[in-house]
Amino acid sequence: MITAMRAVCPGSFDPITLGHVDVVRRAAAMFDEVVVAVAVNPNKEGLFTVDERRELIAGAVGDLGNVSTAAFSGLLVDWCAEQGIGVIVKGLRSDSDYAYELPMAQMNRHLTGVDTVFLTADPAHTFVSSSLVKEVARGGGDVSAFLTSEVLEALRARLG
Ligand code: PNS
Repeated sequence: MITAMRAVCPGSFDPITLGHVDVVRRAAAMFDEVVVAVAVNPNKEGLFTVDERRELIAGAVGDLGNVSTAAFSGLLVDWCAEQGIGVIVKGLRSDSDYAYELPMAQMNRHLTGVDTVFLTADPAHTFVSSSLVKEVARGGGDVSAFLTSEVLEALRARLG
């Protein structure tokens, strides 16, 4: 039996950066379907709402026919099981990313058997994160190299 391989790229995406875009594009070339899933965290207010983040993601990777967006709360593995998703895709920028991601990947596999595939970040993006981009933008620094033009515009508008 041939079944479509669905994968998820989960994260906060507050907002999506070109580092995320690179990982999603590469995942979309490997799997039949990729869902970019925004984690809803009721304890952490983001700069953008979950719906805004999904819109920005759709603007950045919407040209890929096999990519969609979603939001999830609770355990990622439970949501994956509901959605018939068998693979989690994450980008790795550094050994500290690996140290953070490895126990989560192992825990997720322990819980439901879902596997995590790590894609090494493009060297151009190893120092890029949503939080650093926001911090630099708040201070008036130029972050145009790390965001799509739509995300850059949204960030500038939000920060005033
Ligand atoms: O972009 P982030 O903030 O690094 O993404 C981390 C995220 C949201 C993917 C991760 O924290 C997660 O999967 N959260 C969902 C809750 C969950 O399943 N926690 C147990 C992990 S073993």
